[in-house]
Amino acid sequence: MKTIDKVLYSQYSKEKIAEAVKRVGAEITRDYTGKSPLIIGILKGSFIFMADLIREIDLLCQVDFMVVKSYGGGTVSSGLVRIVKDVDMDIKDRDVIIVEDILDTAATLQSVCDVLRARKPRSLKICVFLNKKTRRKILLDADYECFEIENEFVVGYGLDYAEKYRNLPYLAVLRDNDSAQEVQTEV
Ligand code: IMP
Repeated sequence: MKTIDKVLYSQYSKEKIAEAVKRVGAEITRDYTGKSPLIIGILKGSFIFMADLIREIDLLCQVDFMVVKSYGGGTVSSGLVRIVKDVDMDIKDRDVIIVEDILDTAATLQSVCDVLRARKPRSLKICVFLNKKTRRKILLDADYECFEIENEFVVGYGLDYAEKYRNLPYLAVLRDNDSAQEVQTEV
């Protein structure tokens, strides 16, 4: 069980993140030239990534959001997912891109993809800020990603631990540290 006595180790700076988001935005712009994709952000974790990403996409796109909750708490996804808020738009025959903060075991995105695929979009792709490939329990991968990371719990840039740290402008690794009360915010 994690406590709130943490040390944050910097992982990616604001500048590195901006660079990666710009690259992914350009990839999407290139791949969807002449199309008008519907970009669906999975809340809450994707809100900062989504806001930055869509401004790097040079297309006439549309935006929608879903709120998805994983049952259970802590730092491990339970694999059981509940849709708290569905998308408002009809996705039938649309080119849909799901935007998520992190692909970990893939249980969350698998459930979301199953729900959305049943509504017959023309295409469905996954764009994640982070990819923890070594943690995968389900055979599902991202079509677009900013960074592949090791199996460490990260916070910042929209990602939380117990609803905290989402507002860090950089990405940090969260580790238990019994002796430290200190938070290292240098990046
Ligand atoms: P999955 O269903 O195991 O792929 O987990 C996906 C969800 O777990 C993400 O959308 C996050 O909300 C949460 N998550 C997984 N790893 C981390 C992490 O390192 N930091 C913060 N949240 C995480």
